[in-house]
Amino acid sequence: MALLNILHFPDPRLRTIAEAVTNFDEDLKTLVSDMFETMYEAPGIGLAATQVDVHKRLLVMDVSEDKNDPKVLINPEILEAEGEEEMDEGCLSVPGYYETVRRADKIRIRAQDVNGDFFEIKTDGLEAVCIQHEMDHLQGKLFVDYISSLKRDRIRKKLEKLKKQGQRA
Ligand code: NI
Repeated sequence: MALLNILHFPDPRLRTIAEAVTNFDEDLKTLVSDMFETMYEAPGIGLAATQVDVHKRLLVMDVSEDKNDPKVLINPEILEAEGEEEMDEGCLSVPGYYETVRRADKIRIRAQDVNGDFFEIKTDGLEAVCIQHEMDHLQGKLFVDYISSLKRDRIRKKLEKLKKQGQRA
């Protein structure tokens, strides 16, 4: 097990489009367990591989209050989406910022598990929002892309400043 480094906005690597997972091997299982450890430690409710600079289509999440419902979605695809939901979202790659984003309320997803077996999830509310947010990461998209460019620039400047201060320290 190992904690992975989480990339922060506006790191250009967060804009990489992930490729499908084709090898369901031991390396994949290690990556998944490291991603869970990194997500729980942060703490966060979801983490996409893109955020740890691995450009493969997979994400981990756990939206339960007791942190006892880990789920891994590999090569996820949205089969159905309906309704609308507005929620305040945050992101481990945009630390300290929360903005309202509108997404589908109910979704049906097909994905693979660590062994490559296909399964479907039908979900709504927070879990549906979390899946859509993490799937955006796999396309190089961030929740700040949904807000005004003025606000996004403000966040970018503050995070760049923090990064510089961190490097000096
Ligand atoms: Ni995120």
